[in-house]
Amino acid sequence: MTRTGSTGADASGVPDDPQELACRWSVYQPWLQADPVTPWARLREHGAVVRSEEAGGYWILTRYEDIEWAAKNPDIFSSAQVGIPHRDVFATKQIPIQLDGEEHRKWRLTLSDLFNPGVVNHFEPQMRQAAVEAIEPIAEKGSCEFIADFATALPAETFLINFGIGREYLQPFLDHKTWLRREGIPNARTDADLHAANRPLWNFLSDAIDRRRAEGTEGRMDVFSRLIESTYDGRPPTQDEMVNAAFVSMLASLDTTTAALGLVFLYLAEHPQVRHLIAGSPEKVPAVIEELLRHEPVSTTGRILTRDVERHGVTMRKGDRVMLSWGMSGLDPDVFADPLRTDFDRPSTRQLAFGIGPHRCLGMHVARRILRIAIEEWHARIPEYRVTPGTEAVRHYSPARGVARLEFTITEANPAP
Ligand code: HEM
Repeated sequence: MTRTGSTGADASGVPDDPQELACRWSVYQPWLQADPVTPWARLREHGAVVRSEEAGGYWILTRYEDIEWAAKNPDIFSSAQVGIPHRDVFATKQIPIQLDGEEHRKWRLTLSDLFNPGVVNHFEPQMRQAAVEAIEPIAEKGSCEFIADFATALPAETFLINFGIGREYLQPFLDHKTWLRREGIPNARTDADLHAANRPLWNFLSDAIDRRRAEGTEGRMDVFSRLIESTYDGRPPTQDEMVNAAFVSMLASLDTTTAALGLVFLYLAEHPQVRHLIAGSPEKVPAVIEELLRHEPVSTTGRILTRDVERHGVTMRKGDRVMLSWGMSGLDPDVFADPLRTDFDRPSTRQLAFGIGPHRCLGMHVARRILRIAIEEWHARIPEYRVTPGTEAVRHYSPARGVARLEFTITEANPAP
């Protein structure tokens, strides 16, 4: 397929011509950063299987049923390359996200219990405490930049709590992560540069495992204690495998959860009636979270074809890349009636924010709990707030779609909980 010349664009730069829109589609396009939702709908109208020529070229499945079909057929849609563009983050494959087949199944067996609801319940008091300690100074101050002051630190602190790493390591952990995002990754020209950039965090996690071993693991619920005691395919996991799996959980959890917190709280700031619904009926919080994850979806991922496959009359070839936008799936009108409207009594709970099939999010119980704790503790202390007048939320679109900057002003005297 050849790329058409530019035929015009709307005020935000989104190409008018649907063919051009598809050809130039990339989660990094400046013109998709603020709002991919309208372009998603146009892409869907253009076809069920469309072709982008960005990042070496790839297919985009625009229908819920096709995204679900691809995710549930890993023998055709391999996870060996999940990024578009794909980069090898480590010298070895990422556990478990880049694995397929039996190897993936065995790793899921090893990892599946690490983030189960029982473990999340165990750590909930600490997670709640971390949230409260972040919210109280904001309530006192009367304003905040929500992403930096709350939505970035809480997922990081939760990660440390779940992995049994002391709170005193939060700042160095955040410093490493910020450096990696702002400098390490953007400046890495080759895979070797990228591996070197990841080294400080790799060492940070490896040191944490060594400390856990030295302190003892018996009776402990944290991820590292249980990983040290676990088996993979009948043998203990190696140190490198444990660091790899922890690193992947870190990559998979921090930006996604920050993004979800940003999008959910932006929605709540702009919809006082939903804040009041939550205050009057706290049991609605889980339904509000599910519906907002569908309505303001976060993640995009990729697959690589292991063989030729045909769908809707389009033949995709072995070795082709395929983008799965869980976000687009949530706004499919064939599955969700009137998808741009939020409906907290929606009967369908089939939203795919956490993926589906064998790679479905391992940390979804943790993620849902963070969102729930954040909503409950925030609104107990700060029921009334809004986007600070004169400021605008700055959205971003990348593999995790979210909010980069979000100023809040607390608008009324808030009671002590
Ligand atoms: C709102 C926050 C989150 C969202 C939207 C999210 C979304 C997703 C999605 C869509 C996938 C599937 C990827 C694919 O099929 O290629 C996934 C996988 C994964 N997620 Fe999450 N995630 C979130 C939070 C977390 C957290 C908190 C953790 C860890 C504690 C985590 C760990 C993982 C891991 C390890 C995988 C790979 C599973 C596998 O390949 O078998 N995620 N996540």
